[in-house]
Amino acid sequence: MADTVVHTPVLLDEVISLLGPDSEVSTLIDGTIGEGGHAEYFLSKFPGLFLIGIDRDLKILEKAHERLKPYEKRIQLINGRFSHIFSNYDSYTDRKPNIIFLDLGISRYHFEESGLGFSFLRDEPLDMRLDRDLKLDASYIVNNFSGRELVKIFFDYGEERFARRIAGKIAAARKDKKITTSGELAEIVRRSVPPDYRHRRIHPATKIFQALRIAVNNELEELKEGLPQACSILQPGGRIGIISFHSLEDRIVKHFYKEMAGNSLNGREMPNSQSRAEFKIITKKPVRPGEAEVQRNPASRSALFRVMRKVK
Ligand SMILES: C[S@@+](CC[C@H](N)C(=O)[O-])C[C@H]1O[C@@H](n2cnc3c(N)ncnc32)[C@H](O)[C@@H]1O
Repeated sequence: MADTVVHTPVLLDEVISLLGPDSEVSTLIDGTIGEGGHAEYFLSKFPGLFLIGIDRDLKILEKAHERLKPYEKRIQLINGRFSHIFSNYDSYTDRKPNIIFLDLGISRYHFEESGLGFSFLRDEPLDMRLDRDLKLDASYIVNNFSGRELVKIFFDYGEERFARRIAGKIAAARKDKKITTSGELAEIVRRSVPPDYRHRRIHPATKIFQALRIAVNNELEELKEGLPQACSILQPGGRIGIISFHSLEDRIVKHFYKEMAGNSLNGREMPNSQSRAEFKIITKKPVRPGEAEVQRNPASRSALFRVMRKVK
């Protein structure tokens, strides 16, 4: 049986300090609750806080449920995608959120325990679906998408410089035998890249696995759809804070914040934008983990945290 692993919440102090409630009675939506690391800290620190926790993965939501039992009267857990839940928010609750928090991506549980092939260090069925009702799994994409489509996924979602070579090797390998496990895919990728690239600190399959996961779960579309809906359910005076883990997500968040705060996308302010803007950006630059946190938890190294406030 796999050892039980617990995800270490990233930027915990920074999240609490920038998103801690302004008033004694508040409602926080944790739209990506995972195992409930941030949620537990919020609930223990702020006794007047009510927390609505969302996750698209039912299994991890059950873990959060177990962990947050001591706070049962102050939580509501919902299984689903945050974009869907934000757009149908009134059908789940009449509590008005003052704080919305998203900690994007996947949890340590997914890599180490889920058995869904998220990790290139394990040999598991190549699935990667966070919710069971998704139609295409990673194995389907790898075995059926054209070489050109694979290049696009690896390039757009992984920013992988050897996208073409890797897609070519995959297309050749699958002619002989269907690629069904994470171990098989990791080995094909390893053999596709130049030898000096194989022995770097970061495994050569890192970006390919990230890209596939993003494609399978439609993660960037989910974020693009969810952001405006989150803003529309947020109460005036409320804050929204998002942790992203790669530049693709961070770019979406940054541009969206600028748009909502009335700044033009190239950074210049629009005339009178301050007076018309509904939102104000609180973190001019993304907050990043300090050296001590990265030492303690290397998985935090690429975290970028941005917060804005709804002023009207
Ligand atoms: C990085 S983990 C959250 C960790 C959590 N903050 C903690 O401290 O334990 C991200 C979680 O978000 C979930 N998730 C990703 N995209 C989602 C979406 N669009 N809607 C709902 N949940 C999502 C994943 O299943 C995963 O459990």
